[in-house]
Amino acid sequence: MRSIIFLALVTLAISYDLSNKKTIWNDGLSAHISLTQVTPRTSGYTISPANLSSCAGWDACDPNNANTNYKNEGVPVNSTWYINFDDETWIELCICKGYVMDQNAMAKALSYVPPSVRSSVNRVTQRPTGNGAVTFGNSAIYKGQYLPEVFVHESSHSFDWSNKVSSQAVWLNAIGNDSCVPDPYARTNEAEDFAQTSVFNAADKVLQNGTFQCWSRSRQVASTFMPYNTSREFDSREKVIITSKTSGGRLNYVNTQVVTNSTNSGTWQLVPASNNYYLICESGDKTMSCLDALGQTHSNDQLFIYYPRNGGINQQWSFFPDGKGYYKIVNRANGLALTNRGCATASASTTVVFGADGTNDCLLWKVVRPNPTTSKSSVKQTATAV
Ligand SMILES: *[C@@H]1O[C@H](CO)[C@@H](O)[C@H](O)[C@H]1NC(C)=O
Ligand SMILES: *[C@@H]1O[C@H](CO)[C@@H](O)[C@H](O)[C@H]1NC(C)=O
Ligand SMILES: *[C@@H]1O[C@H](CO)[C@@H](O)[C@H](O)[C@H]1NC(C)=O
Ligand SMILES: *[C@@H]1O[C@H](CO)[C@@H](O)[C@H](O)[C@H]1NC(C)=O
Ligand SMILES: *[C@@H]1O[C@H](CO)[C@@H](O)[C@H](O)[C@H]1NC(C)=O
Ligand SMILES: *[C@@H]1O[C@H](CO)[C@@H](O)[C@H](O)[C@H]1NC(C)=O
Repeated sequence: MRSIIFLALVTLAISYDLSNKKTIWNDGLSAHISLTQVTPRTSGYTISPANLSSCAGWDACDPNNANTNYKNEGVPVNSTWYINFDDETWIELCICKGYVMDQNAMAKALSYVPPSVRSSVNRVTQRPTGNGAVTFGNSAIYKGQYLPEVFVHESSHSFDWSNKVSSQAVWLNAIGNDSCVPDPYARTNEAEDFAQTSVFNAADKVLQNGTFQCWSRSRQVASTFMPYNTSREFDSREKVIITSKTSGGRLNYVNTQVVTNSTNSGTWQLVPASNNYYLICESGDKTMSCLDALGQTHSNDQLFIYYPRNGGINQQWSFFPDGKGYYKIVNRANGLALTNRGCATASASTTVVFGADGTNDCLLWKVVRPNPTTSKSSVKQTATAV
């Protein structure tokens, strides 16, 4: 039995009224999406047993659910796991008693979610069949069995949470000016419309058909956030080393402090986030540690590595190539660039801090790919409405 109900907790102060919009498909999206074309290459993964106290939380398996909207829906934990995707998006998996999808089925469904969207998800829970699937920030609960597109939809809510898309004027203007939404569920509010729209790739030729013009502004805006264009500079499956141009020191960390030093450790994976932004996460790290601006807003502020990965704009970085093999690495939240304190030139351990954006060599880093994957990351992704 496959449910097609989508549900998401959206605690919006105001929610946008879409009730008078026409719908393109009245029977939901599942029949009209070819998900294998949205995600032609599912991510590889391994699953390992974990002992996660977080699964006892109210947003996981807790029988004493404290959330008034979801009271008494919880059940005890059956088992807890890590899903380790080869694109570095570790996910905590909580399987509750009475589950319908086991850890293998959950991991497989999540492997269809593009890494750029999944990078905003850090925990998923499987509960017995109930009323739908629901997302709380970076955590989602699936009550019963769902198709992969529901996993894309729910993960898009986490992406929206991290990137704050659906509350932005650019999105509200787009949906306001479009005369239709994809399906009845998208009428619920601006966040559900975004999650439904996100399951499609705006560049898809089929969607250029005049029938879909009434929805074109929404798709256009969604495409500027949703990174379905995977012709990317970096492949998130690669474990890279990042070294400072001026000191040659290797990006590393000691406790939570980011440093460069000459120690032969410190391997990172550049996980795609919103369009043209990456997360810089420690390779193979179960605690999902990623470089984070953590509220720092000034030059010379210390940089931290932060758990958990959440895909938020504090964790998003642009890589600007200098054309000579180096990159300036700029944080999306504060607009500041990575540098060594005092522009250190020795490879001995130094603290990594934020520097004012500029053009000097102190801001440049090399991204070394010790074991490049054989296939390039550019995978053509198109959704086909069928
Ligand atoms: C799991 O962790 C809890 C404490 O966090 C501990 O009490 C329990 O024994 C652990 N269980 C296993 C199977 O390791
Ligand atoms: C988890 O569920 C399986 C069956 O689905 C059962 O065999 C196992 O005992 C359960 N484990 C726990 C700890 O509840
Ligand atoms: C249409 O978009 C414009 C900005 O491009 C905005 O000012 C206007 O409010 C939008 N209309 C609706 C109905 O949302
Ligand atoms: C456009 O899409 C509609 C609805 O799916 C379909 O009936 C029509 O044949 C399509 N037109 C073209 C030219 O593909
Ligand atoms: C995808 O991204 C690449 C590299 O940034 C760019 O050259 C290309 O034009 C993009 N393709 C589309 C369809 O936007
Ligand atoms: C360099 O970084 C590594 C990894 O965090 C750490 O173990 C080592 O102590 C650091 N070395 C120095 C000299 O700071």
